[in-house]
Amino acid sequence: MAIEGKVQRISGPAVIAEGMMGARMYDIVRVGKEQLVGEIIRLDGTTAFVQVYEDTSGLTVGEAVVSTSLPLAVELGPGMLNGIFDGIQRPLDKIKEASGTYIERGIVVKSLSREAKWKFTPSSKVGDEVSGGTILGTVPEFSFTHKILVPPGITGKIKSIAAAGEYTVDQVAATLEDGTEINFYHPWPVRQARPVQRKLDPITPFLTGMRILDVLFPLTMGGTAAIPGPFGAGKTVTQQSVAKYGNAEIVVYVGCGERGNEMTEVLVEFPHMEDPQTGNPLMNRTVLIANTSNMPVAAREASIYTGITIAEYFRDQGYGVSVMADSTSRWAEALREIASRLEEMPAEEGYPPYLASRLAAFYERGGRVTTLSGEEGAVSIIGAVSPAGGDFSEPVTQATLRITGCFWALDASLARRRHFPAINWNRSYSLFTGILEDWYKENIAPDYSDLRERAVTLLSRENELQEVVQLVGPDALQDQERLIIEIGRILRQDFLQQNGFDPVDASCSMSKAYGMLQMMLKFYDQAQAAVNAGATIDDILTNPVTEKINRARYTPETEFEIYRKNVLAELDSAFAVAA
Ligand SMILES: Nc1ncnc2c1ncn2[C@@H]1O[C@H](COP(=O)(O)OP(=O)(O)O)[C@@H](O)[C@H]1O
Ligand SMILES: [Mg+2]
Repeated sequence: MAIEGKVQRISGPAVIAEGMMGARMYDIVRVGKEQLVGEIIRLDGTTAFVQVYEDTSGLTVGEAVVSTSLPLAVELGPGMLNGIFDGIQRPLDKIKEASGTYIERGIVVKSLSREAKWKFTPSSKVGDEVSGGTILGTVPEFSFTHKILVPPGITGKIKSIAAAGEYTVDQVAATLEDGTEINFYHPWPVRQARPVQRKLDPITPFLTGMRILDVLFPLTMGGTAAIPGPFGAGKTVTQQSVAKYGNAEIVVYVGCGERGNEMTEVLVEFPHMEDPQTGNPLMNRTVLIANTSNMPVAAREASIYTGITIAEYFRDQGYGVSVMADSTSRWAEALREIASRLEEMPAEEGYPPYLASRLAAFYERGGRVTTLSGEEGAVSIIGAVSPAGGDFSEPVTQATLRITGCFWALDASLARRRHFPAINWNRSYSLFTGILEDWYKENIAPDYSDLRERAVTLLSRENELQEVVQLVGPDALQDQERLIIEIGRILRQDFLQQNGFDPVDASCSMSKAYGMLQMMLKFYDQAQAAVNAGATIDDILTNPVTEKINRARYTPETEFEIYRKNVLAELDSAFAVAA
């Protein structure tokens, strides 16, 4: 029996339908003659509150609302990489093909191509007991190995399995003895987290290649980070850099356009980004979800769930996935707009009272896990927040910082001074530094954390001294204090700053970052000794070794070890004459 009601009221993307007997929360409905796609987001008796993913203009009261009795779901299988989708996983190129330049409404397009053929190699065999998450076999997708999974919830014995060969996603990969057929893709409801065997502690770093993040405010594999900052401070550039250089195998980029043309920029830029791991396009291991600001707000609300579900699917294959959400403020505004259209009681700044719990539920889907098949996988989430005027006290920033493990605060005044990445080292934090100590000891150096600590202390000492200088001028400082100002400047300019457009400096390994810290701190130690022995600050700064420390960041990784050794050796005696 079809569940069919009638449109009672329309308010932009929100539609209230009456007579929806038997309808369920979050079921997808088709609205009106044009069969617009909508989702039930509240039920009150037989009245359904629907958010519509398409433009509702022209829709009239009394038109039919028919439930599909299925929740909003994505199709998970080969064919997502290098794809650009809207917030409900409709491929943008296919929508355009189906409707011409102007995107028509009510268009039904499959998320995954039914024509594309994939070269399958089975790894399970007839008679195998399988359950949700079992890997049936693999298909190559660009240079990525896509694993075909038994969907969660299914168990049984394989009666037949597809032989090695080429298949479309809707063909049968395996049949179980009870007759269950498993395709090369399966649907999954976006608002439901995909199951795992267990969540694991985050004990390894998610490396971004950005020194200020990896050294000062590290993220873990499976951890969450927020990038708050005003317009133009560098949120998008930072996320793109992390997408490109971060140590994840798959990137899911959810763009919620701040302004119409901004998403267009991402759509133009992303396909040109080169993957430093392979030299191929980064898109070959990226799924891009694009909401321009002129797309209906409801699709924007759904898009972060679409993105995180796709990320979980790749995690379930035993991979590390990074999710970029840019910007979650635009997502929150979509939530606010729909809530207000449905005349819900607003809380702070008009956002619905469930803003914080929705945000938390999204970030909680990140994590490092043991997958159902016993492998290790991780979803790391990096969400941009764009508070109006850069005011971090507003509800979205506040709710986000209570949830995420890293807070990478972008600062407009640093951006104005062209200090990039414009991440404020006094306001940012990471809750993961302690948990990563063992990893650093084993993988970088036993004294890595000590050096990091010293650098942090010097930066904060410099900050205090700068305030003194502001008040009473530089003459009030002792030579040793002036030296702290100088080492602070070196740390800021030559360590924290990174030129995203320089082929060498754009990304930095942890071992190079460690080597740079070694040089800078040894420089400081030697300079201190020299000053105590009577050298002037000028003697120190004009010493040729200073220049070598400045240039360390532009030294390629392959040449760095020799460079480091030479500079450290030179520092042994660099100030000897002065002293
Ligand atoms: N790491 C960086 N290196 C160099 N320039 C940067 C960097 N980050 C930001 N910028 C500059 O700032 C501009 C705005 O950055 P963007 O990421 O678009 O800001 P937001 O997303 O916060 O509005 C960029 O177009 C670029 O010129
Ligand atoms: Mg931006």
